[in-house]
Amino acid sequence: SASEKGGWDSFMDKEIHEEPHAVADTLLGRFDLEGRLNLDEVRIDEEIFRSIDKIIVIACGTAAYAGMVAKYAIEHWVRIPVEVELAHEFRYRDPILTSRTLVVAISQSGETMDTLMALRHAREQGSRVLAICNTQGSTIPRESDAVLYTHAGPEIAVASTKAFVAQITAAYLIGLYLAQVKGAMYRDEIRGILDELRAMPDKIQRVIDTQSQTIEAAATKMINAQSFLFLGRHVGYPVAMEGALKLKEIAYTFTEGFAAGELKHGPIALVDEGEPVVVIVPPARGRNILHSKVISAIEEVRARGAYTIAVAEEGDDDVRDYADVVFWRPQCPTLMSPLVDVIPMQLFAMDMAKLKGLDVDKPRNLAKSVTVE
Ligand code: G6P
Repeated sequence: SASEKGGWDSFMDKEIHEEPHAVADTLLGRFDLEGRLNLDEVRIDEEIFRSIDKIIVIACGTAAYAGMVAKYAIEHWVRIPVEVELAHEFRYRDPILTSRTLVVAISQSGETMDTLMALRHAREQGSRVLAICNTQGSTIPRESDAVLYTHAGPEIAVASTKAFVAQITAAYLIGLYLAQVKGAMYRDEIRGILDELRAMPDKIQRVIDTQSQTIEAAATKMINAQSFLFLGRHVGYPVAMEGALKLKEIAYTFTEGFAAGELKHGPIALVDEGEPVVVIVPPARGRNILHSKVISAIEEVRARGAYTIAVAEEGDDDVRDYADVVFWRPQCPTLMSPLVDVIPMQLFAMDMAKLKGLDVDKPRNLAKSVTVE
């Protein structure tokens, strides 16, 4: 009903607007201001955490893209390998698991059958499973060794939005906790990153407040597009995949997300006059080499007639010259950027679905949680 939606047109709209809270609430009470993480609620011995030498993230859909984002951060901070695998693939191969492998199962609902079967598969082989889950008391956390809940609040819309940013936040907390117990980083560094994380809710809010109109105008303009390409690099790669997924799920548009560096290895053949290409641009500051590489990717597709939409950092003047439309987001460190970059992607997909007169919250053929194999 309208009152359940709190005055918003759709649950998705409401849930996008709850994203600042989803991140803030997931951080709440899990570290002190000295930068010391306290994850006592995760009932795994500090000693066991210290012995972890590999992480495997298992998940499906949006949760898997959150895991891909976390891989970049955790490998950088903790210096242990992190693999991310779709739960249904993981389950039917012969993965290398030991008692020192931490399997992280990410699931909004906690009921996804593929993820549940994968975690059973991991536990049977002696690995510890830590769930990141948004639903208290659901099956996945009950069957895991431990759980770190995301505090995004109930997510109703089939297309996941606020759970995604909360999952990244929770996975980052686990990474920082591992860095703490393993002594992989100095306390000051950890505190610095926690400060960056704490600044993200306001930045998300700013994207919503300042970009919604530009995004809606862009969606109106693109309403008849037959297909979209989304590209990004580094953490922008999973964000591009997630942006593409949103558009497929609710606007029913053929969309392909891929790593920008892969462009020349195939996808560029798809680019024709007027093809819309959405590009996640990494931060420009600090002479970021990836920034110039992504700018040249924009140049390459534009030279072939693409209509380019960029998601870029405020103050990034280079982008202005290359993109047809820019969705701006506040400045932040690269590893924090998925938390703001994904917002325009979600709004854009929602606007497209709305403008096409589709049911934003209940897309055809999809279920909020897939409890069958
Ligand atoms: C379904 C939903 C997706 C979701 C995926 C994983 O396919 O439609 O939005 O990302 O399941 O769900 P989970 O509850 O495990 O995060």
